[in-house]
Amino acid sequence: MSRPRVIVTRRWPQEVEARLAEHFDVELNYEDRPLDRDALKAAFAVADAVFPTVTDTIDAEVLSAEPLRARLIGNFGVGFNNIDLDAARVRGLTVTNTPEVLTDATADLAMALLLCVARRVGEGERHLREGAWSGWRPTHMMGTQVTGKTLGLVGFGRIGQAMARRAHRGFDMAVLFFDPFPPVDEVVRELGARRCETLDALLAESDFVSLHCPATAENRHLINPERLRRMKPGAFLINTARGDVVDEAALNDALGDRLIAGAGLDVFEREPEVLPDLLARENVVLLPHLGSATRETRIAMGLKVLENAVAFFDGAEPPNRVA
Ligand code: DGY
Repeated sequence: MSRPRVIVTRRWPQEVEARLAEHFDVELNYEDRPLDRDALKAAFAVADAVFPTVTDTIDAEVLSAEPLRARLIGNFGVGFNNIDLDAARVRGLTVTNTPEVLTDATADLAMALLLCVARRVGEGERHLREGAWSGWRPTHMMGTQVTGKTLGLVGFGRIGQAMARRAHRGFDMAVLFFDPFPPVDEVVRELGARRCETLDALLAESDFVSLHCPATAENRHLINPERLRRMKPGAFLINTARGDVVDEAALNDALGDRLIAGAGLDVFEREPEVLPDLLARENVVLLPHLGSATRETRIAMGLKVLENAVAFFDGAEPPNRVA
């Protein structure tokens, strides 16, 4: 029997690409150039499965390929807001994602952003590299203490909980969370966390607010001008979720007006574009969507896509099916 034909839209870690080739007739993207919309659409007409990643927009138009050969979309990423799930269902496609394996890496990076912005790490490094450092002095580049402060988590799923563990156990922080679908009480107790009934209550109490909610239509611009005004004047915003959860222009204004003290951002509304004003600010730390970017995690993500696809083509239920 011929093997399923698979198209992978971007370069993956080499060892995972080799594993894919053991199971599938696979077309790899050696040059790592993003596929344009026509190429993506064509992929659905010629392959049994397409393995896109979070920057490939798989919408109804792309899925209108005729004739449609693909039956599976194996997304390389836990977030799947790049895929129109309804359109996929209409066209009879199964969709999978890669949860769990990137939880620790993403929580590590959120904590890194929090520490960097509070302790002015990026600013200090630029200062030193520019040759501007004139030596130690008691008032030089004073930042904000992290240990013992209050962290508010917006979204308390896997990554939010991993962040709580780091903050509470490692930095003795008080942890609050807001989530319409909270975990069981035992989990909340074990993490030393406290639930806020409203997002506004969380914003009013937190020294650091870290976003860990999905990019649903309801969460678009969840952090808007009014919500930024509800944050404490000395507070910091951390975003490793998705760019459009934050109204980026409003955040830029809030930073400029010193409504909040700073922000650590790994995701942006129009990646890879970043507001020029944000690039010019010292009180922000900006990273190019690196949440899951460890070797170990990226390999594990690729192997998850493989596991899901092998199950699917064996006629079994893929473990991480989202549609
Ligand atoms: C995801 O998986 O959704 C991340 O944003 C990329 O790792």
